[in-house]
Amino acid sequence: MENFEQLKTVKFYSGDTTPLEMHKVRVVQKLNLLPIEERKEAIFGAGFNTFLLQNKDVFLDMLTDSGTNAMSDNQVAAMSLADDSYAGSASYTKLEKAINEVFNQKYFLPVHQGRAAEHIIAKTFCKLGTVVPMNYHFTTTKAHIEMIGSAVEEIYTDEALKIKSDFPFKGNMDINKLNKVIEKWGAENVAYIRFEAGTNLIGGQPFSMANLREVSAIAKAHKIMLLMDTSLINENLYFIKTREAGYLDKSIKSILHEMMSYTDFSYFSGRKVSCTRGGGICTNNHDIYMKMRDWVPLYEGFLTYGGMSVREIEAMAVGLNETLDFNVISHSPTFIKYLVDALDKKGIPVITPSGGLGCHLDAKDFLSHVPQEQYPAGALAAALYVAAGIRGMERGTISSVRDENGNDILADVELLRLAFPRRVFTLSQIKYAEDRIQWLYDNRHLVGGLEWTEEPPVLRFFVGKLKPIGDWVDKLVAKFREDFGESL
Ligand code: F0G
Repeated sequence: MENFEQLKTVKFYSGDTTPLEMHKVRVVQKLNLLPIEERKEAIFGAGFNTFLLQNKDVFLDMLTDSGTNAMSDNQVAAMSLADDSYAGSASYTKLEKAINEVFNQKYFLPVHQGRAAEHIIAKTFCKLGTVVPMNYHFTTTKAHIEMIGSAVEEIYTDEALKIKSDFPFKGNMDINKLNKVIEKWGAENVAYIRFEAGTNLIGGQPFSMANLREVSAIAKAHKIMLLMDTSLINENLYFIKTREAGYLDKSIKSILHEMMSYTDFSYFSGRKVSCTRGGGICTNNHDIYMKMRDWVPLYEGFLTYGGMSVREIEAMAVGLNETLDFNVISHSPTFIKYLVDALDKKGIPVITPSGGLGCHLDAKDFLSHVPQEQYPAGALAAALYVAAGIRGMERGTISSVRDENGNDILADVELLRLAFPRRVFTLSQIKYAEDRIQWLYDNRHLVGGLEWTEEPPVLRFFVGKLKPIGDWVDKLVAKFREDFGESL
């Protein structure tokens, strides 16, 4: 409770609701902001794909929060104590203890990152003809399940895909849809139900404890296992505490333990939750643990490191404990809220309410004159890089696939995700982002679409290359110079 009290009492005399950093910066990395002409060259060089930009050419890297979060002084200090050994490392014992205390889970399987956990879980529990119902998919999760021949059924609520909403828990499952999916497939064919905390692809949106409790009761009644993806648990915890009735006075630890009490097993990406690398699978169920255990030495590494370095393991143990600190987990959601609310107030289309992973611009509305077949989210990502040196991630039709006739399967939503790596950016940098997004919005009519020059057959968004349709980039650069003069 003390941390929340502290936050509540830091009020601005002016009445501002500006978020406040509850840390100070002691190690810094120099940034470059290239002149717009060089940014133009860089985006052409990258085939209009922000994944292919060099980090040295990027001012604010908002591509992802994965592996890019700031570590604490205690995490960095812990890394120098690492006990290097293949088997039985003392560093691993510390991590196991952290898993017991933070998640209240007895058994742990370490892996090299989140998708490795997905691989082992899908390999163990999915088979041809089974289904995994989930609130919403994540790209790697779905790929692992489908590769085995199992199906994915998304059972999100009607609110989930609405861009504008004031529904606090857009990550909830639709209970009616869940019951129907179980009835349709038969409980025996449901491999497990997967609940993703801080639902990534719909804008980092949380689920409520009440919804989790209901889903868990249904799973139990049908003897179906409930799996939770806790990669984005930090912000889901923050939102349960601050948005759900009855949780404001509860500690983060007790909220997390209550969540875990409803699940049979869980997994996480350490690149997100603990601000390190690595990942792991947790459970209190010995049978579940034993079913997966022997895949870890085969695919990841021995059971006391699972593909992680001992330095990462030490930092992970500390990082997991730090997720119980309300000040630590408040940083991202309060900074994201600042940007989302500021843009929303200006009429710039963003996903509301603000979530936990980043600020998501609605490219379909922002560039309503660009047809979906010309990839508005990709065009917006490229245009924002040119306008500001900010690298976001396209989450629209470029991230989708083609059907059997070779036509694009148009994405449900065309988003530009501006991720907020935890404790990395200062408020003035966020204000710069706000300013340049506003400029781009005011000049949106100048931005045109994209077309492929090199389109890989799988996961094309990672390394595919595109080019602008027409000369819109030159027009954008010329307008920038007209408005900003010699400014970067
Ligand atoms: N689950 C969720 C909810 C994720 O967001 C991610 C990764 C994974 C699993 C896979 O974990 O990357 O450690 O293998 N999300 C990153 C992103 C890649 O940019 O959103 P991983």
